[in-house]
Amino acid sequence: MTDTAQRYNRVARALHWIIAALIIGNLAGGLLHDALEDVINLMPLHKASGMTVLALSLVRIAWRVTWRAPAHPKGMSGLEVLAAKATHLLFYGLMLAMPVTGWIMSSAGKYPLSWFGLFDLPKLPVTRDSALYNIGHEGHELLGWLFLALVVLHVGAALRHHFLLKDNVLRRMA
Ligand code: HEM
Ligand code: HEM
Repeated sequence: MTDTAQRYNRVARALHWIIAALIIGNLAGGLLHDALEDVINLMPLHKASGMTVLALSLVRIAWRVTWRAPAHPKGMSGLEVLAAKATHLLFYGLMLAMPVTGWIMSSAGKYPLSWFGLFDLPKLPVTRDSALYNIGHEGHELLGWLFLALVVLHVGAALRHHFLLKDNVLRRMA
């Protein structure tokens, strides 16, 4: 693909939207699971979909490094381009760090790590009294808030491009 590409390609778009939906579901499920625990146990779904995000994000990053994204619209300032690049880079980091910290934390628990009831995923060698468990637990909560804030920023930026600046930024990912 060349610099003149106008849109993200089909694989990039599919991965973006599937991963986005799973992450938004997991942010909501993670924050609501305590409040809903008498109604439904969201954790098995949360863990399985989070592990799916990890696998799909590895595919997405591999795909991304082999392909050049469409150029930013000409009207964007250097600062705006920098903010977009920094947010996207942080997203890729969080798409790996959120599932990995969750995996670390859950590995120390007594429940199996089932992928939607179809098969069990391996657990990492972590115990509840280890420093790694605490890092996983604290990290998962802290990074969750950072993720949520960045999603709000990212969606706000996408809507600003579409409705206020009226450029093709949202359309090329649609
Ligand atoms: C995209 C991936 C993920 C996102 C966005 C996400 C998000 C969250 C959020 C926002 C919370 C609430 C944090 C808090 O207030 O304590 C949470 C809790 C939790 N997550 Fe995840 N998570 C993801 C993946 C995973 C994975 C892969 C696992 C395990 C394999 C996992 C296991 C847990 C557990 C056990 C809790 C409950 C922690 C507690 O209540 O102490 N998460 N998650
Ligand atoms: C958890 C949710 C989401 C995550 C983690 C996420 C992540 C990302 C990442 C990493 C990129 C950069 C693609 C690249 O060049 O490598 C991107 C681009 C983009 N995203 Fe999202 N996204 C999410 C949700 C959304 C939503 C809800 C919208 C629309 C309202 C959206 C609109 C866009 C657009 C328009 C681009 C292209 C930006 C550009 O061309 O510079 N995203 N997203």
